[in-house]
Amino acid sequence: MYEKQGLLKNGWYVIDKASEIKTNKLIRRQIMDIPLVCWRDDTGGVQVLIDRCIHRNAPLSEGRIVNNCLVCPYHGWTYNEEGSCVKIPSEGPHSERIPTQKVEKFPAKERYGLAWVWMGRDTPPDCEPFEMPTMAGKKGWKHYYMVTPFDNNVTDLVENFMDVPHTVYVHEGWFRERKQMCIKAEVERTKDSVLVTYDQPNDSIGAFGKLLNPKGLPMTHTDNFYMPNVTRVDYSFGEKSFIITSTCTPVAPFKSMVYTLISYNFGWLNPLGRFFMPWYTKKVINQDVWIMEKQGNNLKTFEGEKVYRSSQADTMHVYIESLRNHAMGNEAGNAPSLLKKEMEFWV
Ligand code: FES
Ligand SMILES: [Fe+2]
Repeated sequence: MYEKQGLLKNGWYVIDKASEIKTNKLIRRQIMDIPLVCWRDDTGGVQVLIDRCIHRNAPLSEGRIVNNCLVCPYHGWTYNEEGSCVKIPSEGPHSERIPTQKVEKFPAKERYGLAWVWMGRDTPPDCEPFEMPTMAGKKGWKHYYMVTPFDNNVTDLVENFMDVPHTVYVHEGWFRERKQMCIKAEVERTKDSVLVTYDQPNDSIGAFGKLLNPKGLPMTHTDNFYMPNVTRVDYSFGEKSFIITSTCTPVAPFKSMVYTLISYNFGWLNPLGRFFMPWYTKKVINQDVWIMEKQGNNLKTFEGEKVYRSSQADTMHVYIESLRNHAMGNEAGNAPSLLKKEMEFWV
């Protein structure tokens, strides 16, 4: 899978929530089909190596950390944080017999409560991880992460997270009612993002719409996609706001881990949000998990004959596909051009 990612490899991908990476405790994760061993060192830094001993390929994640070095569980070959072999027990005192080959190391960073790995093996990091809008320190804002495994690929997942028409089917009664209301939007494709600004002042969302917005203030709504794998959905009514930011980590061709940051500022209703939001957002995301698994299974069944027909409501999806497919090298020719378009659809 890794080789097929083209330029998408050159990005920061979340390996786990930072709180899951404990000092000197080894965990195994997988990104783009590459098994990785991850731990936190004594100084608090996140370390990531490929999970494969250079000796006989045993998974290093089954070993342990001793004196800041990773000891393979099979024959005890020992590696430092750079992945260099520093000891081979069966060679006794002959350190000159230690090979110079290394266990591959991946750059890692901790930001916004997440641990990120740079997956470009031949290209050093040239950017920072996506700035997750935790709104840390901003008065009135609360946030939490959801970690959700999905059985589908990243392109189809980000489309789902940016999709309005499915909300009245998959989330019927939970997010938006079906009433054949016209929604207009402006969709813009830049070189590395797709930005959708909706014009739907009379719309309302959620099972809690009336409570959050009793005066029926106009709703503003934007859906943005940022290459290679992030979506950010913003809703606000008056002073109250709600942001859903999802960063997708491709695990295998039809397996992804999604780290969803829910940020909200419901003013005096925040205490209620604290109680209600984790339950509500879990319910809604599980409905997407369900349909994404069904779609993923069908995409696998029909692999090789991928044909998508699109309506106007899919404009942003077509743009997302164009950016991701071009970066993956699936489409010959120049990079997708900058575009801006008006669209309308009914939900
Ligand atoms: S496989 Fe790791 S030490 Fe032998
Ligand atoms: Fe959904």
